[in-house]
Amino acid sequence: MSPQKQQCPVGADRVVLDAAFKADAPGQYARLRALGPLHPVEYHQGLTGWLVVGYDLARQALTHPALLKDSEPATEALAAAGFILNQPGLGLVGHMLDADPPEHARLRRLVAGAFTPRRTAQLAPRIEQIAHDLLDALPPAGEADLVEVFNAPLPVTVIAELLGIPTEHREDFRHWSAHSMQVASPEHRPALLGLHGLLRDLVKAKRQAPADDLLSALVTAHDQEDGRLSEDELVGTAMLLVIAGHETTVNLLGNATLALLRHPDQLRLLRERPELLPGAVEEFLRYDTSVERSTNRYAAEDLELGGVTIPRGSIVTVALGSAGHDDSAAQGEDPGALDVARPNARHLAFGHGIHYCLGAPLARLEATIALRVLLSRVPELELAILADSLEWIPSGMMRGVLSLPVRYRTT
Ligand code: HEM
Repeated sequence: MSPQKQQCPVGADRVVLDAAFKADAPGQYARLRALGPLHPVEYHQGLTGWLVVGYDLARQALTHPALLKDSEPATEALAAAGFILNQPGLGLVGHMLDADPPEHARLRRLVAGAFTPRRTAQLAPRIEQIAHDLLDALPPAGEADLVEVFNAPLPVTVIAELLGIPTEHREDFRHWSAHSMQVASPEHRPALLGLHGLLRDLVKAKRQAPADDLLSALVTAHDQEDGRLSEDELVGTAMLLVIAGHETTVNLLGNATLALLRHPDQLRLLRERPELLPGAVEEFLRYDTSVERSTNRYAAEDLELGGVTIPRGSIVTVALGSAGHDDSAAQGEDPGALDVARPNARHLAFGHGIHYCLGAPLARLEATIALRVLLSRVPELELAILADSLEWIPSGMMRGVLSLPVRYRTT
């Protein structure tokens, strides 16, 4: 990358990350990458900060020792802008993605055992069963919203079973967790409160009657090893797992299916050679990932990033989806092309550094199984509306379509 390209257009207008930006995110990021790897942005409700769009600078930012999760000046700025995700009482605090070392390691260690590749692999038969059950429940041919009938219920069922969330709560659970990610939606706060209330009640119930599930295991860790997990941390961790553990996967499945429907040659190739699927999932994560942007980091001191001075207290986020389209990630291949046979797709879809996604093995497994079952059981699949009419999630860090109407025929 030339030194000139490293310059940030400071003084240029702030880029506003609004619904129009999100609806055209790949085009907008391409435009920003061509200007430089770092840009001043407005997130929402007047909240401003910096956005990294280049691959190399993204890796630096995600491991920068002074870009932290907790910073007093930034918390004040957030509260002043009415930003509520980090407010105590809503439960989305006190978890590992909100913590810096050494607290981070303690909080992550408590759940890490449940998400190792080996433990995750044991879930494969159940995930496969869920995928088949969902397709069995459909009429053999017709029109359906793929998000509603397949992409959403599959990861919801997996994470709900893992945590031990009873079936009768799953509708609320899905609704609340989808809305909790849309920071500019009027449903955002009620959704966070709803989810928090449900998980707080469930924690109480598991304490009285522990079962063989992750929530009970967390309660036990809290109760038996005093001081290791406070009540806020317990509910916060459960909320993180619920939100991080399925909305991400719902949208990865949607973005992957849509990418295939828009590239029939790639769809044909994957149907003919399903053994390409694990690599293809990496390509979907690179090509159009669901976590478009990282969570916030805060500058604990004045610091330098990509030749720009970032003042203490500033918010810095990373456009994870953009990083995988940077020339330096593509290693000579065309980053704009969808290539399900691409060797070693390089991306930052699961983040980088200490907050690297804990659920990456589970997400990869779910996506591989879901897409394998979908492609093998649904030989005819096409969009039922024009791709340009699809509605994208309008705010927040998640990228995905709100619904994916398809015409299909199952076997
Ligand atoms: C396609 C699916 C997924 C994607 C794209 C994804 C992406 C990410 C990303 C980018 C981060 C880091 C955010 C940051 O640094 O700001 C992250 C963290 C995390 N993810 Fe995922 N995720 C996915 C699925 C899952 C699943 C299935 C789970 C588990 C149930 C999970 C649990 C977590 C947790 C606990 C963290 C916080 C890790 C830490 O702070 O140490 N994720 N994920």
